[in-house]
Amino acid sequence: MDMLDLLVSVKLLNRTGDGPSAVYSNTDETATYLDPAKPGYIGGILEFWDKRNYRFWDTIFEVAQTGEAQNESKTGFFETLYAEPARLEAFMAAMNGSSLHAFTEMARAFPFENYRNVTDIGGADALPSRLLARAHDHLTCASFDLPEVTAIARRRVVEDNLEHRITCVSGNFFKDHFPPADVITMGMILHDWDLEQKHHLIQKAYETLQPGGALVVIEALIDDARRENTYGLFMSLTMLMEFGDRAFDFSAVEFETWAREIGFKRFETFSLTGITRAVVAYK
Ligand SMILES: C[S@@+](CC[C@H](N)C(=O)[O-])C[C@H]1O[C@@H](n2cnc3c(N)ncnc32)[C@H](O)[C@@H]1O
Repeated sequence: MDMLDLLVSVKLLNRTGDGPSAVYSNTDETATYLDPAKPGYIGGILEFWDKRNYRFWDTIFEVAQTGEAQNESKTGFFETLYAEPARLEAFMAAMNGSSLHAFTEMARAFPFENYRNVTDIGGADALPSRLLARAHDHLTCASFDLPEVTAIARRRVVEDNLEHRITCVSGNFFKDHFPPADVITMGMILHDWDLEQKHHLIQKAYETLQPGGALVVIEALIDDARRENTYGLFMSLTMLMEFGDRAFDFSAVEFETWAREIGFKRFETFSLTGITRAVVAYK
């Protein structure tokens, strides 16, 4: 009962009545976001952190002092994570949890009606492309990711009957060309990498876009004054533990500085879900 009442105290459960005859039920929010049977479920990211990341917090002071990740990223984070199919699927579920509502909101807020095609870089199981294609009948999308991941993406695209609208492209975004598009999206991509690699990916997007094209970067952007967005700072520490001190989250202003140096002309930010924003750079 303590467990249930604790969840009542943090507003994750409702309770009517007291004592042994009390009845517990989901709140509106938990029914929407934390019921695996519902389409709005975002618990994949919590399950992933529960099984994997919480134990890394034991090492946070050591990591902060040495700047060295305490996990398998020493031998290549994605390569090691993806070596086991169950872990790859769990990571895809985690990415769905963290991105479902942000991309749904982005599909509504950004004027995709002014563009014809979108390339989603690091598109995971193509959830962002599937959301965009469903929201905008005229759009075609390319979901670009590593080969292990695009195999899953292709299956999901076929399950959703979107294979005539979405192409899943396998490649390495540091080595291969990006599929050309009017809009390039990167959801939670840049924060995995160091400054030089961030520059490289922004530069590649710039070279791929035509004048007027847009690069849409969706992240838990840290507020410019670094005082408010606890989740963005928490995410940056998570990147520190996963990748070492080369990977970090950033603010919209930091992104704009890098992108302006590369040649992007105009910028805009969009508030998406509570913790996630998009910053758009126009060529
Ligand atoms: C943090 S996940 C973000 C997934 C998705 N964009 C989202 O917002 O939910 C990073 C993605 O980048 C992909 N990725 C990592 N390294 C890559 C590389 N070198 N080339 C292509 N994709 C890569 C991963 O497989 C993964 O799907």
